[in-house]
Amino acid sequence: MRVVILPSEKEASNFAAGFIENFIVNKENAALGLATGSSVLLTYESLIKKHNSDGLSFKDITTFNLDEYVGLKPGHTQSYRHYMNHKLFNHIDIDKKNTYIPECFNNDYELCCENYESKIKSIGGVDLQLLGLGTNGHIGFNEPTSSLSSRTRVKTLTENTVANNARFFDDKEFQPSIAVTMGIGTIMDADNIILIGLGKHKSKAVADLVEGPISSFCPGSVLQNHQNVVIVLDSLAASELKLYDYYIHTEKMYLKFMC
Ligand code: GLP
Repeated sequence: MRVVILPSEKEASNFAAGFIENFIVNKENAALGLATGSSVLLTYESLIKKHNSDGLSFKDITTFNLDEYVGLKPGHTQSYRHYMNHKLFNHIDIDKKNTYIPECFNNDYELCCENYESKIKSIGGVDLQLLGLGTNGHIGFNEPTSSLSSRTRVKTLTENTVANNARFFDDKEFQPSIAVTMGIGTIMDADNIILIGLGKHKSKAVADLVEGPISSFCPGSVLQNHQNVVIVLDSLAASELKLYDYYIHTEKMYLKFMC
């Protein structure tokens, strides 16, 4: 696990965007796994800038989003499809036909989830998965005690997650409490993973993920079992890491000898 700690949200996000850029440039027809939420917003802004000023192209890229709420009408402003269109897809040269989100427009959730898994397999799997981290350690919408080998399915959200995401919904607006999410096994199948953690409110979940025992109680901790993971943090999110100084040192060594 490579742990990269940078002073600010902006620097951490620029690092993540640079990592994604480098990946896309070097991997033809890459399949990216994408996330929603606040943690990835500055990274998307930085990718849009790279598209506009450096000509970074997404035209041969396929994307698979981690999750989507159940119960919102297509086009709803709080849907993750809406988020992705407005925060990224509308501003780059990606072909929206190649952007997948686990949306389910009929009630056959099981089939929807199976189809999503099949689609990912049919294009050869996700090459690079981008993740945020919930304050309770969730990745995607895999809440604590999710099976560490789970596949795409419907999950009931915890009160904590519903409360954390309430900021995106207007007062009295319907807020779903269930969602379709890639499973932890699905996420772990990606060849490479980059997770972004920003802010003091993430520091405990980050410490549990990086230094705690591998446990379904902190779903993100399963990433310790993945061979190609980069955890990108601002210094506040990293503030509860016991080996903080060691990660700063190892990153310096990495840059000196590996780049
Ligand atoms: C949300 C999403 C995740 C996201 C995480 C962190 O509920 N389902 O995909 O990564 O929780 O969210 P945020 O970045 O807004 O803190």
